[in-house]
Amino acid sequence: MDIPDYTEEPFEWYKKMRKESPIIRSGNTIHVFKYTDISEVLSNYHVYSSQFRDLLGGELAEMMNQKTSPSILILDPPIHAILRNLVSDAFTPATIEPYREKIRKIASRLVENMKDMEWQDAVTEFSYLLPITVISEMLGVPESDSNLFREWSDKLATSLGREPDIETQYEMADYFYGKIDREGLRNNLISRLSRVEIEGRQLTDREIAGFAILLLVAGNETTTNLITNAFLSIHESTGMYSNIRNNSGIIPSVVEETLRYRSPVQSTRRYAKVDAELHGIEILKDDILNLYLGSANRDETIFQKGEIYDPYRTTKRHMAFGQGIHFCLGASLARLEARIALEEFSRNIVSYDVETPKPEDRLDSDILYGFRKLLIKPEFKKI
Ligand code: HEM
Repeated sequence: MDIPDYTEEPFEWYKKMRKESPIIRSGNTIHVFKYTDISEVLSNYHVYSSQFRDLLGGELAEMMNQKTSPSILILDPPIHAILRNLVSDAFTPATIEPYREKIRKIASRLVENMKDMEWQDAVTEFSYLLPITVISEMLGVPESDSNLFREWSDKLATSLGREPDIETQYEMADYFYGKIDREGLRNNLISRLSRVEIEGRQLTDREIAGFAILLLVAGNETTTNLITNAFLSIHESTGMYSNIRNNSGIIPSVVEETLRYRSPVQSTRRYAKVDAELHGIEILKDDILNLYLGSANRDETIFQKGEIYDPYRTTKRHMAFGQGIHFCLGASLARLEARIALEEFSRNIVSYDVETPKPEDRLDSDILYGFRKLLIKPEFKKI
């Protein structure tokens, strides 16, 4: 089966697959393209597991377990729910509300800095800096380490779905071991995790490091891509930027439509714990299911004219944040950041030009969709 590589847009391929082979086997991997089939897999965690280290087994899993315990993303119930409950409080809309003004300040400063340049890279100057600053603050790590985080998070993002990058995981684990705070001297998420107890015991260093790495990587690259993808999608849609400037009330819908149209996470995986059947297709124990969220989000049976970027569409139930028990914990935070980013950008910038990204500017990932670089030329309000 010819799977497009990261330099190509996957959407035409998804469309063809939805029509001709919506569920197709290639070796021990089953590729799933339609919304309802993906939804079925994601809701049935008794059959379809996220615990990939169990499947991996052997030396590789042992090497990974040496420094970090599996994060909630790759755990099944009941332990998944127990650990998720420990952090879920930190990400409710009410808990993140106090970050609103901080996020606005950072976004406004970043827009201000853009004034000094004509053509500039929106990723380096803007999209990347907002999420990293916010998550660093939540975790209680200094902003000055942000270059280190970018390097790590780029490496881990590239390795997603490919060979695990053990070396980077080790480096990150060692870094976070140094931030563990059993005495409760600081007030941040890592300190909180260092002190909580589950079933009469504290989290181990490896569990805390696993959590911190997940939050840093999951919260960073994805939100950066969402903001960059919004800049590009808005620019491609004639008149959309003026609509936003005339009515900022449309921004939440612009964010949702960007999540649907250019989903930052294009696919996720599960494996079958037992033999099963999916829409008439035989699934064997240990088969891996590749679930194309980016295709579900263009599925014509759910989204009319799904290939058109239309923030005014009424059906908004995209799967960009997944579905079911692993639904993205950071969804409210990502939405808040992206909305504020667009509000601050459009309040100050009258119009902007974009240089169409080249294939090599795309993120080198089989799973994430975004750009390493997006050249834009903003025109500021004259005072
Ligand atoms: C636009 C931004 C984001 C997108 C598109 C996104 C997407 C996703 C998706 C698709 C999943 C489910 C994966 C699966 O079921 O296999 C997920 C899970 C998760 N995300 Fe996000 N995410 C984003 C931002 C964030 C942020 C800002 C954070 C935290 C700071 C975060 C933390 C998590 C965590 C902890 C999980 C695992 C939840 C669980 O397994 O129970 N994400 N995300």
